[in-house]
Amino acid sequence: MDTLIVLDFGSQYSQLIARRVREAQVYCELYPWNTPKETVLAHQPAGFILSGGPNSVYQQGAPQLPDYILESGKPVLGICYGMQALTHALGGKVAGSTHREYGAAELHTLADNPILPQGEQQVWMSHGDRVEALPPGFIPLAQTRNAPYAAMGDLERHHYGLQFHPEVAHTPGGTQILRRFAVQVCGVSPDWTPESVIEQQVAAVREQVGGDKVLSAVSGGVDSAVATALVHRAIGDQLTAVFVDTGLLRLGEAAQVVAAFRQQMGLELVAVDARQDFFGALAGVTKPEEKRKLIGERFIRHFEVQARSLGMPPYLVQGTIYPDVIESRAPERAEAHRIKTHHNVGGLPDEMHFDLVEPLRYLFKDEVRRLGEALGLPADMVWRQPFPGPGLAVRCLGEVTPERVEKLQKADAIFIEELEKAGLLRLNETHEGALAGTSQSFAVLLPVRSVGVMGDQRTYQEAIALRAVTTEDFMTADWARLPHDLLALVSSRIVNEVDGVNRVVYDITSKPPSTIEWE
Ligand code: XMP
Repeated sequence: MDTLIVLDFGSQYSQLIARRVREAQVYCELYPWNTPKETVLAHQPAGFILSGGPNSVYQQGAPQLPDYILESGKPVLGICYGMQALTHALGGKVAGSTHREYGAAELHTLADNPILPQGEQQVWMSHGDRVEALPPGFIPLAQTRNAPYAAMGDLERHHYGLQFHPEVAHTPGGTQILRRFAVQVCGVSPDWTPESVIEQQVAAVREQVGGDKVLSAVSGGVDSAVATALVHRAIGDQLTAVFVDTGLLRLGEAAQVVAAFRQQMGLELVAVDARQDFFGALAGVTKPEEKRKLIGERFIRHFEVQARSLGMPPYLVQGTIYPDVIESRAPERAEAHRIKTHHNVGGLPDEMHFDLVEPLRYLFKDEVRRLGEALGLPADMVWRQPFPGPGLAVRCLGEVTPERVEKLQKADAIFIEELEKAGLLRLNETHEGALAGTSQSFAVLLPVRSVGVMGDQRTYQEAIALRAVTTEDFMTADWARLPHDLLALVSSRIVNEVDGVNRVVYDITSKPPSTIEWE
């Protein structure tokens, strides 16, 4: 398959470059800049994209362009620091700018070239250093008011440099630029579509497992659902999926999982009703980490019982996705991404050994969702917001009882329904760079009672906190500026429709200092 390589020089936007190239339906892989040459060249790349980064090329120890890139004779596109590294390697000059240039700029194309359209377009600048003298053979391709070399190119050797960031939403024509580089300069065909991914992975899974049996644990989450559906497409009845109903999913979700797999996909799904067991174990437990540990252990135990009764198939489906793979390639980043301890079937006891089937290993989250749709999973299931492994237990502060979870599910469903109606259940980035909508939004049940008045009655009941955030990476997050009218409607519906709740509050803390979940 035609592949581009994106080399990561440390920019916060590196994954975004890879996602945009994929959006242009071109397959690419992201590697740290100092990855061994053999690993990168094993892909037989059709071209290279060099990301931005925080360094200065002349700094001691600054990442440099690896020799094999130019030696390969393949097209190269350097973005920001990548452009500077390319310039430095080819004998041009990079200079520290006295002031950083940051923000929108108007780009004016100067010379006919295969990657930039003629005329003007809005682009996003974010850099300190910049190219001061072009390397031999290069010509300026475009300029902005402050940057005479906003784009440069050596049209004969197919080397290009962009001072601006084509990967961010504030460069509306950016994906088009990346697509032109891939298709017109590198000559790859844009055929990376959900259908082609299904075709390839179906073949790969069949080849991997042969005639053996495969097991899958479906949690209600997007990744495990799509991975399971894909493996089912590949091997049909050789797959058995196990769904452990903990009683801690959102309203109606457990039934939806069962229906989607059994009825829509015709898959053999073993549904274990473990609600009583989980609630029994959680009785009297109020500490968040204790809840997590307990739920994780129980889950594994139920899964193990099912696996044994199915004769311990040799293979297990795992919903690992590309960002997990990228993080394991760059260990220093993995540290920064670690979240609260959480369970998944990776925590299986040593004596339960499976070979893993990971059909989503090379996909970004958005690609996983589109694949899920193409496989026939319900749209609201595949586009659902992230949900923590321990489920509503960490949103039901204090003791987790069936009654309190039911209260929480009802309040949560009202909030989600109104956000959906208002078109705010997903995060949309506007061209101006503002984030509209929400990345994660949910209700939290608080273990405090307060006084209220309903009709002529004094009430003394629990409170619901609404949490809604905007974030791209879930590492930092801002609270969503939801319209007051929407909050008013949700508050009034919750108090009227959910027994035992007489107060609704809205969480206005960002992360940090808070976390997204309350526990
Ligand atoms: P926090 O609360 O740490 O959450 O800001 C960041 C993201 O991680 C999710 N989260 C979890 N996911 N098991 C999971 O699988 C967990 O125990 C867990 N705790 C938090 C959270 O929903 C958010 O998306």
